[in-house]
This record gives sequence, C-alpha cells and structure tokens, in this order.
Amino acid sequence: MVVVVEVVVVEVVVEVVAVVVGSNICTSRGVTTCRQCLAVDPSCAWCSQEEFGKGGSSVSRCDLKTNLVKLGCRSDSVEFPLSSMQILEDSPLSDKASGSTVTQIRPQKMHMVLRPGDSKRFTVSVKQVEDYPVDLYYLMDLSYSMKDDLEKLVTLGNLLAEAMRKTTSNLRMGFGAFVDKTVSPYMYTFPAKAVTNPCEGISETCQAQFGFKHVLTLTETVSRFTEEVKKQQVSRNRDSPEGGFDAIMQAVVCKDRIGWRPDASHLLVFTTDAKTHIALDGRIAGIVQPNDGLCHLDNDNIYNKTTVLDYPSLALMNEKMSENNINLIFAVTSYVVPLYKEYSQLIPGTTVGMLDRDSGNVIELIQEAYAKIRSKVELDLVDVPEELNLAFNATCLNGEVIPGVRSCSGLKIGDTVSFSVEAQLRSCPKEKSRTFKIKPLGFKDSLEVTVDFACNCECEASAQPNSALCSQGNGTFECGVCQCHQGRLGPHCECSVEDYSPSDDANCIPRRRPHVQRQRRLSVRTVLLSLKRVWTNHGKCNCGFCQCDAGWKGENCNCTTRTDTCMSSIGLLCSGRGNCECGVCQCTQPGAYGATCEKCPTCPDSCTIKQQCVECQHFKRGQYVTDNSCNRICKDEIRVVDDLGKGIGAVSQDSNAVNCSYKDENDCVQHFQYYEDESGKSILFVVKEPVCPEGPDVLVVSLAVAGAILLLGLIGLLIWKLLITIHDRREYAKFEEERAKAKWDTAHNPLYKGATSTFTNVAYRGN
Ligand SMILES: *[C@@H]1O[C@H](CO)[C@@H](O)[C@H](O)[C@H]1NC(C)=O
Ligand SMILES: *[C@@H]1O[C@H](CO)[C@@H](O)[C@H](O)[C@H]1NC(C)=O
Ligand SMILES: *[C@@H]1O[C@H](CO)[C@@H](O)[C@H](O)[C@H]1NC(C)=O
Ligand SMILES: *[C@@H]1O[C@H](CO)[C@@H](O)[C@H](O)[C@H]1NC(C)=O
Ligand SMILES: *[C@@H]1O[C@H](CO)[C@@H](O)[C@H](O)[C@H]1NC(C)=O
Repeated sequence: MVVVVEVVVVEVVVEVVAVVVGSNICTSRGVTTCRQCLAVDPSCAWCSQEEFGKGGSSVSRCDLKTNLVKLGCRSDSVEFPLSSMQILEDSPLSDKASGSTVTQIRPQKMHMVLRPGDSKRFTVSVKQVEDYPVDLYYLMDLSYSMKDDLEKLVTLGNLLAEAMRKTTSNLRMGFGAFVDKTVSPYMYTFPAKAVTNPCEGISETCQAQFGFKHVLTLTETVSRFTEEVKKQQVSRNRDSPEGGFDAIMQAVVCKDRIGWRPDASHLLVFTTDAKTHIALDGRIAGIVQPNDGLCHLDNDNIYNKTTVLDYPSLALMNEKMSENNINLIFAVTSYVVPLYKEYSQLIPGTTVGMLDRDSGNVIELIQEAYAKIRSKVELDLVDVPEELNLAFNATCLNGEVIPGVRSCSGLKIGDTVSFSVEAQLRSCPKEKSRTFKIKPLGFKDSLEVTVDFACNCECEASAQPNSALCSQGNGTFECGVCQCHQGRLGPHCECSVEDYSPSDDANCIPRRRPHVQRQRRLSVRTVLLSLKRVWTNHGKCNCGFCQCDAGWKGENCNCTTRTDTCMSSIGLLCSGRGNCECGVCQCTQPGAYGATCEKCPTCPDSCTIKQQCVECQHFKRGQYVTDNSCNRICKDEIRVVDDLGKGIGAVSQDSNAVNCSYKDENDCVQHFQYYEDESGKSILFVVKEPVCPEGPDVLVVSLAVAGAILLLGLIGLLIWKLLITIHDRREYAKFEEERAKAKWDTAHNPLYKGATSTFTNVAYRGN
C-alpha cells in the first residue's frame, strides 16, 4: 500500500503596504507622530482614531484631511489646526497730537495662529502726526576744550527753544554733562590738588572731574535751561577720548530722572569735540565689570558707578535706545565727524551733524536732524522668535511698492506710509506662543503681535503613558499610535532593539507584488510600520526577520535542510552528479536526470555503475549479491542478446544508448548496452556469453620451455667449444714459432754462468 503524504504549504500573508494611488506630500514622508505630521505641510492632517487603518488595507494616518475622512476617520478625530489671523485693536491714526491719545501706527494689536510652513500677511500703516511733543535733552562734553562751547550755549538756549517751537508747540528741554571716568589714567591724580582742581595753573575756574552729571530734568520752562547752563563750569581730564557713552547710557535709561515723556519724540543731543571711549576701554583702569544698562544716578544726580562699570557696548546702547525710543543726535566737530558717522551706521536711528568749533550752529544742526528724524519711518522688530520669518514691502510716498524694505524716507510731517508684512513660521519654537512688536524707530507706538504656534495636536493631551495597548506598557499611546519607550520598536512596541537586526530585514520582505509598491525604508520604525511579511508555516516573523523552525531555512523558511531525499540508490548524494538544494537534486552533470540524477546514459561513469547491475542481475554474482542490495539498487530490465548489433529491439544507434564492456572475474570480456527509453526506463542489453580467451596448453608450453632451455644450453656449449678451440690453436702456433727460433750455441747457453765475477769501483776515477 502506498501512502502519499502531501505537504500543503500554507502561505500566511500579512501586508501593511502603502496604497500608492493618492500618494501626496503628507503620506510620503513616513511620519510617525501627529506633531511630525503637522510639520510636514500646512495641508496635512492626522487621524488620532485608534481603530483607523486596521482591518487589512494600509493607510497613512497623516494625509490630506479629505482623504482621512474618505478613509473612515471620524471628523472629531482629525487633527487639523488652521492658521488664522485676527486684528484685536485697530484705532485710526491721529491727525494731530492734540488729543489725549496719539496714534501713529495702525493696527495696534493682532493675534495669529500659524502652522509650521504657513504664512499670514497683513498691512501696517504709520503716520507722523503733526505737532508731536518733543523732549530735547542736551548732553554736553564739559572737558576743558569745550570751554568756548559752553559759553556759546548760554547765549543759544532761548534761540534753540524758539526754533524748536516752530515744529512743535509742546517742547521740553533738559541738560546733562559728562567728562570721563574719575580714575587714572583718565583723570589727573597728581599732584593731589589736581583731583579737586584739575585746571590749576591754566585757568582759575574749573570743577573737579566727573563721569556723568544730570543737571536739568526736562522742563517746559525753557528759561531754566539757560539758567542751569550758565551755572556750569568746565572740567579737565587727562586723555583725549571722553566717557560720553557712559553718559548716553544713563541719559537713556534713567527715564524718570531725566523726565522723558512716553508720548513724545525723544531727542538726545550729544555734543563733543573728541573721540569716545568704548566697551573694554575700562580695562586700562582695571575696570572689568561690564556695563549693566541700568540707571545709577545717586541723590546728587551723579553717575556713581562710573569707576565700577565698563563703558557700554554699541549693542547694549542700541537695545536701550530702541526700548526707550531715543533719537540720538551726534553734534560733533569736523575732526571727529567721520568717526561718529561710523558709529551712526552701527546705531540705527542716529544722525550726525557737524558742530562749529564754538557750537554756534547747534540750533540749525538740531533742527536739521529733527527734520531728518521726522522724515523717516523705519520699522524696528522687537522679540521676534528665530523661527518666524518676517518679510516686508514698503509703500512710501507715491504709492510705489519697494520690495524687501521696511523704511521710508523723505516724508513730511502728516504723511502716511504703509508696509505689507508677511509672517511665516519656518519651524516649531519650544514655546507655544510668543508676542513680538513691530514699532517705528523713535516712536512710542507699536504693533503688538501674539503668535500661537500650531505645532501641537489636541490629542497629545489625552496621551496614555505606559499604555496596555503598547505591549504591556512599553510605550505611550498617543494620538492613535504607540510612542515606544527607548529600546522598543514596532507598531505596538512589540520588538526590543536587540532582537531587531536591520541587515536581516529583507528576509521578511520578500517578493514585490505588481500594483503595490513597497515603501522605501526610512527608518527602523517605518520599516516595522510598513512591513510586508510573507512567510510559510515553517517559521515566524520576529521583529523584522524570519525565524525558521528547526529543519527549515531560507528566505521564506520553505527550504528543508533534509538531504535524504537526494540520496541515490548507490549511496551518493545526487549520484555524485549534482547538488542537493532544499531536498531536491539539482543535477549538474550534463545529460544527468532523475530525482537523484541517477539516470545518465551519456555520463562517463555510467558503464561502471551499470556493470555491477549486469553482474548481479544477469550473472547473480558480484558485490551487490554479496551485500544483498541488488534488488534495491538495480531496477534495470535485462534483455539478453546474442550480439549488440542484432539485439532484439536494441536501438544500438540511438544517442541514448551506450555500448559498455568490462572484464569479469574470469577475465572474460562482457559486452552490454545501456539504454534509456523515452519513459526513462532503463534497459540493459546483455550479450549472452562473455568473450573468454582460449586456455593455454601446459604440455606444449612445458615442452617448448624445456626445448628452449636445451637449445640454449647447446648453443652455450657450442660457443664455449668454439672459443676454446680458437684459443688452443693460437697457443700452439705460438709455441711452434718459439721453437723454430730456439737454435742457441752451447757457449751461449743462457743458463750458463762463469766462475769469476768482475766488479767496477764506482768511487775511483784514475786521472
Ligand atoms: C550710588 O547711588 C545710589 C543711589 O543714591 C546708592 O544707593 C548707591 O549706594 C550709590 N553707590 C555707590 C557706589 O556710591
Ligand atoms: C512683496 O512684493 C513681492 C513682489 O514685488 C511679492 O512677491 C511679495 O509677496 C511681497 N511681499 C509681501 C510681504 O507683501
Ligand atoms: C514590555 O514588554 C514585554 C514583552 O512584551 C513585557 O514582558 C514587559 O513587562 C514590558 N515592559 C514593561 C516595562 O511593561
Ligand atoms: C521558496 O519560496 C520562494 C519565494 O516564494 C520561491 O522562489 C522558492 O522557489 C521556494 N522554494 C522552495 C524550495 O519551495
Ligand atoms: C554498439 O555496438 C554495435 C555492434 O558493434 C554497433 O553496431 C553500435 O553502433 C554500437 N552502438 C553505439 C551507441 O556505439
């Protein structure tokens, strides 16, 4: 009975794929939180409904609002804040500064909601009202070289007031003076008297050096100006640059002591004929504490921190002047005009005028400067967050739009100008809202804009930390998705980072399907979110990679590690003609086929393999009979033929047939033909009888051998005889010859010896 077990491979397909149709800027960024979604584009909305996107088809929670609603998101779960703008205060511009409140900018208060990337545009109008109140504070250098200027100013006080009254009916004037810090090397400290009277020897009237002294608080009684100036005396100091910037700082920040009115133009006239000390110069006197930009006037109206604080920096002066709406006028002598013009470039809202040696032209100079100040409107920005971009277009006098500019000049009092402003939020600041100001330089009036940054989602408020929905508390459930704790991954934080191996993630994302495009891998997180998992039931997908059951391997765990199915009957994997892959033989030898590559008539080794089958099947002998494996290994049909050429049914010319022969144990040559028919059935045509060699005749052989030995012996003897005979003949001939010669005298018998012996004495030689 044959039992067929069919293994049905069930393919479990869980797909989370992006629907390509309708892809847009919101869906294409792979965002994972509501906040990120809002930041992608102002058109993007987020669905915070928990069930959204479940039930097979994959959708992005971040999408155009219409798409989310279409895909079934409840409208109360759609997070879609809109940018908006609202004008809160919009009083009309004043014509004259006569009323109780003067308005020179419109609107005055606004509120905005801005989404990242979004912008709002509004218009600001500015008007220089007529007859605006003016506060004029005269700050004078009282170093020795200004002696003549001081004398001149006494005569000019009333004229100045008169001249200014032409532009405003509401004028106040004040006076202050400065020299320099009262320490060496700025001050004479030797001899000791020099401290109290630094002019000793050159002049009799001279006051001790001082830093800054506020003399006259701003007053409508301008005659007092002349009175107070008259009382002043010059002083004397050592080095050429003066401490004027210390004085400016105090005059700017001590607004109550100086008496600056909030609703007035603030003119600070700074007169000097010398250079000025700047920040860090204090180090020469060992003063290293930076200027704090605060008012330090003591009860005598003297700046009493002059020896403690360094000179102020230009940046600090800028900030304080803008804060207090001060218009600074540098009225300086020709020698230092270029220097102060440079400072003026660095301090917006400042004008420079050239002062005569004795300050004789100071009135015209101030009038000119004031006219210049009033002829220009420049918008200043206060507290604008870095993330907010403000772009301006100015519409100045004749309605002409000047792009990218936030100032207008050449105006007359009473002219109105407007600016178109576009506020764009580039990214999300840390805070939720911020108030900034747009204000014309030197004006009290400003437009106050409060911006709410629409960067957060309402659903964030109802976030559940350590939620059960996120793998038993491994994440915060917020706006419909899990925000995993550190070290956890996956849509429900089900994976731990250690388990996840990005290099293997391809294993769980096999095969692209047509009409569905897999999302590109953006991050570990998005992979897990957009994972398309296909695996067989021989394994499971574990945090991005397949974990195959034992005995299985490969991309889809559909490859068995078993090899027994590849084992051929002769005990070789795939008969040695191929490789076992996933339990199936892949035959590599050309011509080989069959489940274990066992079939291959044309293989060079086929004769050797089949020879054993001929032996066991036909002759019932050989190794396969010994180990009883003939029936298992040899499944060939044996057909006995007389001759290969005439085999009944033998297709001897067929290319699938091969002629084989081998020598059997009896040294007989056995011929057979190995043939595979179309059905793959193997037939062995065996020639009935092996071709055996004839057996040799022992007698003949032994006789022949004996004969041969005898013959060789005889030949040997003959040769020996011959050689001996030749030798004997030669010896005899020699003897004969000798004997013929031997006819000696008896006297010369060679054997005879005489009876006497003669010796020759070798040593004697007779002369
Ligand atoms: C400066 O004057 C203020 C106000 O009178 C006083 O409080 C302070 O102690 C004085 N500082 C110095 C260093 O004299
Ligand atoms: C300024 O004008 C340019 C065209 O000249 C325009 O493209 C831009 O949007 C304007 N900006 C503002 C803030 O009005
Ligand atoms: C995180 O999840 C694992 C397994 O899902 C769970 O055993 C563990 O308790 C969870 N951790 C926390 C902090 O809840
Ligand atoms: C395993 O699955 C892959 C992809 O589906 C397929 O290409 C391959 O032929 C399968 N292998 C086996 C042994 O079934
Ligand atoms: C096998 O031998 C026979 C007889 O010698 C011959 O006719 C035949 O062509 C041979 N077949 C092959 C495939 O060589």
